[in-house]
Amino acid sequence: MSDSRPNVPRHVAIFMDGNGRWAQQKGLPRIKGHETGAESVRAVVRGCRDAGVEYLTLYAFSVENWVRPREEIGGLMKLLRLFLENNEHELHENKVRLRVIGRMSDLPALIQRKLKKVIAATKEYTAGNLILALSYGGRAELVDATQQIARKVKAGELEPEEISGQTIADHLYAPDVPDPDLMIRTSGEMRLSNFLLWQLSYAELYVTDVLWPDFREPHLQAALDEYAHRNRRFGDIK
Ligand code: FPP
Repeated sequence: MSDSRPNVPRHVAIFMDGNGRWAQQKGLPRIKGHETGAESVRAVVRGCRDAGVEYLTLYAFSVENWVRPREEIGGLMKLLRLFLENNEHELHENKVRLRVIGRMSDLPALIQRKLKKVIAATKEYTAGNLILALSYGGRAELVDATQQIARKVKAGELEPEEISGQTIADHLYAPDVPDPDLMIRTSGEMRLSNFLLWQLSYAELYVTDVLWPDFREPHLQAALDEYAHRNRRFGDIK
């Protein structure tokens, strides 16, 4: 994740899907799929850095995921903690800034503390950005943005007529982050599933049948290669 290169997406968003099916196919508990999925996360962070992608957003836990069995949620939170503990040094070595989008206050207190510590320790880095979507939902984000805007209107700081698309974009969780250029979804599912609903408006979509725990650098490279050949028109004729 460094300097901009031609035809390299500046921002890649990934819907890491298929951990449960991967484990099921192998007769393993679902958490093993998530564990191996965490290895894919490491591989993809490195792959994006090497390719020159500046922003990588990973959908790690959705607002809807809280309905999963307690045991699975606990296992995912433990994986997140281990990921932070074992990989913080790599963020420092590569000058990568960690950020979180989502309702972070929903997360267990220990995880929040660890996240806040790493977020603060990496906040000056500019070589790349790793953005974890945690307790994230695209609709929840728009609800949260709308509430903030409504408060400003109520306080007389903003007129309703002044609200534009830019106003909404300015009140999202990470307003300074450019919209994703490429969204990758693994496991063959052709859905947005409440991921970055506002920000993905003009993103190129890439769906692969590969399950997330199997997704490594060559799969990332295949997605980047396909992106490089797409013709982005943004509503224009070109
Ligand atoms: C979707 O697969 C994946 C998740 C809900 C969790 C993703 C989490 C990780 C890859 C682990 C660690 C993350 C970090 C950032 C260290 P699924 O369980 O919905 O799969 P299924 O559709 O096959 O059941």
